Amino acid sequence: MKLKIAILAGDGIGPEVTREAVNILKAIAEFGGHDFSFTEALLGGIAITAEGTPLPKQTIDIALDADAVLLGAVGDNKFNHLTPDKRPEAGLLQIRQVLGGFANLRPCLAFPALADNSPLRPEVTKGVDILFVRELLGGLYFGQPRSWNEETGEAINTMRYTKSEVTRVARIAFDLARKRRKKLTQVDKANVLECSQLWRATVDELKSDYPDVTVEHQLVDSMAMHLMNVPRNFDVVLTENLFGDILSDESGIITGSLGMLPSATLGGKVNLYEPVHGSAPDIAGTGKANPLGAILTAAMLLRHSAGLEQDATAIEAAVAEVLNAGHRTADIARGNVGATVTTQQMGKLVHQALAQSIDRSQSLHGV
Ligand code: IPM
Ligand code: MN
Repeated sequence: MKLKIAILAGDGIGPEVTREAVNILKAIAEFGGHDFSFTEALLGGIAITAEGTPLPKQTIDIALDADAVLLGAVGDNKFNHLTPDKRPEAGLLQIRQVLGGFANLRPCLAFPALADNSPLRPEVTKGVDILFVRELLGGLYFGQPRSWNEETGEAINTMRYTKSEVTRVARIAFDLARKRRKKLTQVDKANVLECSQLWRATVDELKSDYPDVTVEHQLVDSMAMHLMNVPRNFDVVLTENLFGDILSDESGIITGSLGMLPSATLGGKVNLYEPVHGSAPDIAGTGKANPLGAILTAAMLLRHSAGLEQDATAIEAAVAEVLNAGHRTADIARGNVGATVTTQQMGKLVHQALAQSIDRSQSLHGV
């Protein structure tokens, strides 16, 4: 199969983790006889430095022309003094808008090998498999008016949603729940916010179309607590934009590290794939970054943009195997007996495990 992939590696650890993810995609192409092409483009701080804008026109063209966009991370402390519309993050928000994906899938899977790595007790994280569905194009991130008036000392952001914006992402969450354990938890702050009341009412209206899915509502504050207390109770978790941003980072505690979390954004012109972690400028270039979030993101790309479910599963299995063998990057090294590996070494280990599993399955088919 043919697949055009745009690579927006971005800032900080973005390029180093993305390199490992691309190596894995190249391996899949090679093993399966696929024709994957990769086109790099600038986004974020690196684009501001080179082109004076966080999202150059050329990047938009390359992204829109691709079958899938793989992003690394965006953000650079150098630009902290700029207003939100000029910062590297503005480029990320704009490319999300341009591509149009509104359903951001953020799986949180507790790998058994990392049980001792989470500050939560192993019996709490055991078997946890949550899929956050975060609305990505609405709410406080994009609502108008927005402003900060330094003279009057007043700042404004607007949380705004329409029923159709809620419906389209809720339907995706319902459909995903159907394919999983058939439970949907909708998160809001309906005891205070009208927007949240709209979310709750809209999801309740849709329930009759999905009689096989159990729906529960949680207020975001108590959800933050339940997530640490009984994470196993959750299957698909549907949130508006900001709540999903916060809860998905919190879920990094369950997996042992934010560096383990992948994401896929669906529903627009071109799907966008980005690990949940940020640019982590403090460790950029040190070899400490964990590429597994990016590699698992590449697996999601194969699943959702190429229909290569088997290859996606093979990558996920290779990651589990490498972890089971005791290999750890610095962020997941707690309680580890073996030596810590670098970003690149971790990428190679996954590549090896993947190659071996593909060899095994090919020799099985040959019999
Ligand atoms: C994320 C990030 C972004 C967000 C930032 C970098 C704008 O935190 O993808 O979770 O808030 O969406
Ligand atoms: Mn975030």
